[in-house]
Amino acid sequence: MSVPFIDFTEQNKMIRKAVDAGLEQVIAKASFIMGPEVKKFEDEFAAFCGVKYAVGVNSGTDALYLALAAMGVGEGDEVILPTFTFIATALCASYTGARVKFVDIDEHSYNMDPAKLEQVITPRTKVIIPVHLYGQMANMDEILAVARRRGVAVLEDACQAHGTRYKGQRSGSMGNGGCFSFYPTKGLGAWGDGGMVVTNDAKLAEMVRMLRDYGRTDRYAHKFKGHNSRLDTVQAVVLSEKLKHLDAWNSLRQTVAGYYARHLAGSGIIVPQTLPDREHVHQTYAVRLKDRARVLDRLKEKGVTALIHYPIPIHLQEAYADAGFKAGDFPVSEKVADEILSLPMFPHMTEAQVIEVAAALKGAL
Ligand SMILES: Cc1ncc(COP(=O)(O)O)c(C=O)c1O
Repeated sequence: MSVPFIDFTEQNKMIRKAVDAGLEQVIAKASFIMGPEVKKFEDEFAAFCGVKYAVGVNSGTDALYLALAAMGVGEGDEVILPTFTFIATALCASYTGARVKFVDIDEHSYNMDPAKLEQVITPRTKVIIPVHLYGQMANMDEILAVARRRGVAVLEDACQAHGTRYKGQRSGSMGNGGCFSFYPTKGLGAWGDGGMVVTNDAKLAEMVRMLRDYGRTDRYAHKFKGHNSRLDTVQAVVLSEKLKHLDAWNSLRQTVAGYYARHLAGSGIIVPQTLPDREHVHQTYAVRLKDRARVLDRLKEKGVTALIHYPIPIHLQEAYADAGFKAGDFPVSEKVADEILSLPMFPHMTEAQVIEVAAALKGAL
């Protein structure tokens, strides 16, 4: 039996009827840009996250970039982020003209290590971006404590962590702002690109609202050199339907993670850890093992799709060669990047599929 990395057939079946009806409306009204469904979904998502404002944009990358721009980040400023993340976290800071500064991760959660944060902060530091990697939030208490002590803002990169919680608070709701991606493979995925900035700060929300729409204050009045980065009405329809199921789908992911933990026990493979005070929604199920290249070949032979998130930390990417880092600068990130492997994970994955993956892995080892 081959096992796909992701299979959303069941999820799509659950929402299809309602989405079709919603899309009919959008087509009938031709309200493709900024239709009422966008505002409706923004309100629903804000309520879901437990924040006052949500502003839909066209991707997670733009959510991060526009939020930083709205916070006034630009040339001469510094933005701190973990080096072990998807490159978009760094790109959005670079787009503003700010200097990107990296921090190593903690070996257990794969998130920013707060103990290494303070030493990177300088008087030029404007924003810290903790990334909630794979579906588990970073250590927000410690990160927020350092940020407050040093007068620095915190922007959560929650692009992989829809609906997860830290001490009961949803991702995106603890920093000055939070950013989400609705890329199709995310926990809450659109049928195309999409993103969202959430915040309790009315000014920040208003700035992002203007920046996503050509810096507009009125139809042809423009206060800033803004962008065209809006969430499509069609995507808002899909996302609104999916949001109704998100908590249930996240608990199915947790059940699948339980199957993995059971069937990989004793194999020597390091399975994801859920740290105290946190929930893990396993948007990505990443394990660690030695001899990954050989294991990947064997999984391929057995029809099991596995991926690597991420093989090269950002400080070693060619795109960031100008930042002047070298191998050895962030040892935990480099070690994890060499050993990490993402296994198939989706809410309706069956125990039989998990057993198949576990057997292929054990066979390879
Ligand atoms: C951690 C992280 N940040 C940012 C992004 C960028 O999101 P998008 O692909 O919607 O631009 C992604 C997803 O791809 C991500 O995983």
